[in-house]
Amino acid sequence: MRENFGSKIGAVLAAAGSAVGLGNIWRFPIETGRNGGAAFILIYIGCIFLIGLPVMLSEFVIGRSSQANTAGAYRKLAPGTQWKWVGRLGVFTGFVIMSYYVVVAGWTIQYAWLALTNQFAGKTAEDFPVIFSQFASNPWQPIVCLVIFVWLTHYVVVKGVTRGIERWSKVLMPMLFILVMGLVIGAVSMPGAKAGISFLLQPDFSKVNGGVVLNAMGQAFYSLSLGMGCLCTYASYFNRQTSLARTALNVCVIDTLIALMAGFIIFPAASAAGYHLQSGDIGASLLFITLPNVFQQAFAHLPLLSYVFSLLFYLLVILAALTSTISLHEVVTSYMTEEFGFRRSRAALVETVTCMLLGCICSLSFGPLQNHKLAGMTIFDLFDWTSSNLLLPIGGMFISIFVGWYLKRELVKGELTNNGTLRVRGLRVLIFILRFVAPLAILGIFLNQLHLF
Ligand code: PHE
Repeated sequence: MRENFGSKIGAVLAAAGSAVGLGNIWRFPIETGRNGGAAFILIYIGCIFLIGLPVMLSEFVIGRSSQANTAGAYRKLAPGTQWKWVGRLGVFTGFVIMSYYVVVAGWTIQYAWLALTNQFAGKTAEDFPVIFSQFASNPWQPIVCLVIFVWLTHYVVVKGVTRGIERWSKVLMPMLFILVMGLVIGAVSMPGAKAGISFLLQPDFSKVNGGVVLNAMGQAFYSLSLGMGCLCTYASYFNRQTSLARTALNVCVIDTLIALMAGFIIFPAASAAGYHLQSGDIGASLLFITLPNVFQQAFAHLPLLSYVFSLLFYLLVILAALTSTISLHEVVTSYMTEEFGFRRSRAALVETVTCMLLGCICSLSFGPLQNHKLAGMTIFDLFDWTSSNLLLPIGGMFISIFVGWYLKRELVKGELTNNGTLRVRGLRVLIFILRFVAPLAILGIFLNQLHLF
């Protein structure tokens, strides 16, 4: 018997847990900084609701109607066709993302540890780049952190859908929300926070161009965990009473709120610490170089506050990343259980060990393997680049085409209305978006990412 999420709130929190992750707390502020602030945010929100929400609904329809892992889903819904490759591609993408995601997730464990043992105290802006590069290039330390992270994920996934994923999402997500709220209040009340707040609230549309729009859409996909069957797998655990439309809407709102709140932590705190918000200061190393320094400088006279702020922040990132790695892990675990008849514990173990090995290689690409490059990229960069710039957009495009063009309209309607028991408006608009708007828009992101635009 397949397990189900026991409650509606459990379903929402598990899916929101998948969506909320490093994408919200790390990637979103970076993209916002690079793409000009408030105007980018408005476009991003448009992308979430205009394209992200319909594609999420598609994954939900595929998952719940098939009651199968992402590869099995296409096998069941489109027997004898090549659509199964879309599912398999999703499983493969899950492997790839998980393998490098745990490297960054592992770093957050180290930073939480440094915060806990008060090792940031008294450090200056010059010290933080050194701390980071020494740590990341060390051959074994990041690997220990990564292994801890993968095993934390394994522990939850092995317990199963209800007792593992659902139960932990119900604990971790509210904790995460409380932490974010506390940090936002702390950050916006810092002296000097005002510049950061207005950066987020006053749109300057003169900076908007095609690239900004496409970046916003790419970010929306990544942040919502779309395009690889993660939410399709979770939806296969939704029960028959769950309203797909309401769940998807809740997940989109929660994910957007957390991303915005992460912005309201980072930009006010950074402006309070004297950073120029649009310069390269808020760069890719945001989470591990800029932020620990921000926390030190912003509370220069209140070391206790620096301590509490840093510790809570890294704890928050760990929680957010964990609920995402759980969902990535589950895609592969459910695939191996259902398609190859593995016991759950064994399937999870295979995924865990493989990810640890691949994760180690990704991690070493910051140290001993940094000169081993393929197509000019280190292994870590290659995994990151191929998954978010190639595999997710391709997956997302096929998912919307599958539901928009291939699946019977009656089936889609039946799923969205729970066989006529719920009233759902806008079905026509949804199908129109899935048939034309989403695939073309995604094709746009895709070509842009390949620098063909
Ligand atoms: N959405 C996750 C985040 O924001 C990342 C992710 C992408 C997770 C794809 C699963 C699948 O961090």
